[in-house]
Amino acid sequence: MRRTQALRALASETHIDPAKFILPLFILPGEKREEQIPSMPGVSKVSVDKLSALAERLKSRAVLLFGVPDDKDKDDTGESALLDDSIVASAIRALKAARPEIAVITDACLCAYMKHGHCGVVRGDAVDNDATLRLLARMACAHARAGADMAAPSAMMDGQVAAIRSALDDAGFADTAIMSYAAKFKSAFYGPFRDAAHSAPQFGDRAGYQVPPGNRREAIRDALLDEHEGADWLMVKPAMPYLDVLAELRANTRLPIAAYQVSGEYSMLKSAALAGAVDERAAVLESITSIRRAGADAVITYYAEELCEWLG
Ligand code: PBG
Repeated sequence: MRRTQALRALASETHIDPAKFILPLFILPGEKREEQIPSMPGVSKVSVDKLSALAERLKSRAVLLFGVPDDKDKDDTGESALLDDSIVASAIRALKAARPEIAVITDACLCAYMKHGHCGVVRGDAVDNDATLRLLARMACAHARAGADMAAPSAMMDGQVAAIRSALDDAGFADTAIMSYAAKFKSAFYGPFRDAAHSAPQFGDRAGYQVPPGNRREAIRDALLDEHEGADWLMVKPAMPYLDVLAELRANTRLPIAAYQVSGEYSMLKSAALAGAVDERAAVLESITSIRRAGADAVITYYAEELCEWLG
């Protein structure tokens, strides 16, 4: 049954198609800016004025937006993330004006906006969970007002999905969905992202809020709590080091699941390809196939544009 392509195709179980990819985009303040990210060859950050041209040529049908404020504009309140003219709100409007059919998902987290680089409000040497909830809810509402289709809270605060859901509903955005970074592990694979977003914690680490890498049961419990709080999508992140969690979550929920092939996974594949160690296209397609096979409906990947091209 594996002798010919036609026979193999009859029995193939996992399909990858361009409608399943979400492309992360890093948005800079100001104008006419485009900066390469050194640890992620081929990925750059762009200012809002560049987005309509980018949208015109975009092959991905969904994007995930991250604001990258200049260091001088960071503070201890995260207020700049909550405004109706924040970097991300402006980016949403630009993308929706250029290509309204593109699904726009936005990250709801404060680490890139905070001087200390933690995902929420810091009191003493720890993040204040409940004070952070109010800010995340305001951030998601500002994005919804600008036209976002979906909020993706990544701060790993307890109760963040419920807080965002009720704030969106109260503000008249019952149709704005929530993609919860439900099982987000404390991972070394976020390294290149933190370089790109200047969001590395300035003291301590994220062990106080992200899932310990060895805890599968805890990750599933966390994800199911988010479902209970009203999440429309669940996410497992990173993807390849956590395929067992993805498969187990698939068996335990009826919600769609996204998997995030994170910056470090991208950099590993890209470095191996640049070193001539693997065939880039084959290796990336295999990585996505494995993530889909484990149970992901959609895959967030920095390779989304290349994948759309390769798949035609
Ligand atoms: C913000 C956030 C991070 C990523 C997505 N949202 C970094 C972190 O938690 O430090 C990582 C994405 C990637 O590595 O591609 N909290």
